[in-house]
Amino acid sequence: MFDPTTYPYYNPSVDRKVAIVTGGNSGIGFCTVLHLYLHGYIVYIAGRSKSRVTKAISELKEQAAVKQVQYSPQEARERYTGEIFFLDIDLLDLNSVIRAAEIFKSLETTLHILVNNAGVMALPFCLTKDGFEIQLQTNYIAPFLFTTRLLPLLERTAETKGNSVNPPRIVYLSSVGHHFAFRYFSMNSHFNYYPNIIFTWLRYGMAKTAAIHFMKMLALRNPSILCVSVHPGFVMNTNLFAYWTRLPIIGIVFWCLFQIFGYFFGVSNEQGALASLRGCMDPSLSVQHDNGKYFATGGVEAEPSRVARNMDYAARTWIWTLKELSDRNITI
Ligand SMILES: NC(=O)c1ccc[n+]([C@@H]2O[C@H](COP(=O)([O-])OP(=O)(O)OC[C@H]3O[C@@H](n4cnc5c(N)ncnc54)[C@H](OP(=O)(O)O)[C@@H]3O)[C@@H](O)[C@H]2O)c1
Repeated sequence: MFDPTTYPYYNPSVDRKVAIVTGGNSGIGFCTVLHLYLHGYIVYIAGRSKSRVTKAISELKEQAAVKQVQYSPQEARERYTGEIFFLDIDLLDLNSVIRAAEIFKSLETTLHILVNNAGVMALPFCLTKDGFEIQLQTNYIAPFLFTTRLLPLLERTAETKGNSVNPPRIVYLSSVGHHFAFRYFSMNSHFNYYPNIIFTWLRYGMAKTAAIHFMKMLALRNPSILCVSVHPGFVMNTNLFAYWTRLPIIGIVFWCLFQIFGYFFGVSNEQGALASLRGCMDPSLSVQHDNGKYFATGGVEAEPSRVARNMDYAARTWIWTLKELSDRNITI
């Protein structure tokens, strides 16, 4: 596994490095923010609940302090913490996504790291007010829109001195669940069939495959920005499974099953963040050699499914997304 303590530390008063982590208030995103903050980054947690994010910021500062007391005297002299702020975004509302990008651009002149971490999994079929299936919008459409709105800022950051060595980065939380899209389905497929417990996985798989397509397309289209997608591992103690574990009566059965699965195959929240952290900070990654790659548990390079790595399919996904957004009067 890759060790984040080996990645560069910054002094924010000398070298201001700015990051956004969507859904950084819980689970894998929380641990990602923790390490970016400990490395001196100015981190914006983009979330839909100010109270949940504010609570997470206090906990993050407490956990950072616990790690800092373990520093050697030399480490304590050389390492600086950054800052953490809240950025209001609701991925279920595309207007909120556009607004969040605008607010961010009015606050900061650079963006070094964007982590599209927020996501939902295996929910019942439901359409958002923008007319997309809920998992598709949260896991793909909204992050696509947010990212493309921030691209000019990422590109400007790439042009500033010194950033050709350490380019701005986009890290996208996909999932091994992308394999559920075992062949290329039209992005118009809704998979709104019974039983939900099966077809919900096809919807999740499609959204997470589209995420990998997006990173591969951006790597070609914007080669000055390092774009990677990741599978964090099976991280069972996050809120991702809440829909199933909170079901009346049967929820406890799901909870037990997830815990047993996690015992044999799972990793901790902190280990789950390692793949994202590698994408964010590993200085050995370069746009020339690593753009568009997919990292799995612990940050190890892996190969995504045949459907996810097919560039014809990636282009189709891209074109479909632009058309759907333009039908809603949203231009990229
Ligand atoms: N855990 C795993 O085993 C696993 C495996 C593969 C991939 N992943 C991926 O890893 C990512 C992080 O998952 P996690 O396990 O850390 O789950 P988590 O604890 O549930 O974190 C998900 C985050 O996304 C946020 N979010 C959800 N819907 C949102 C919306 N409409 N607007 C803004 N934020 C929203 C949540 O915010 P709230 O707190 O406000 O709900 C939460 O902060 C997800 O993309 C997931 O698909 C996880």
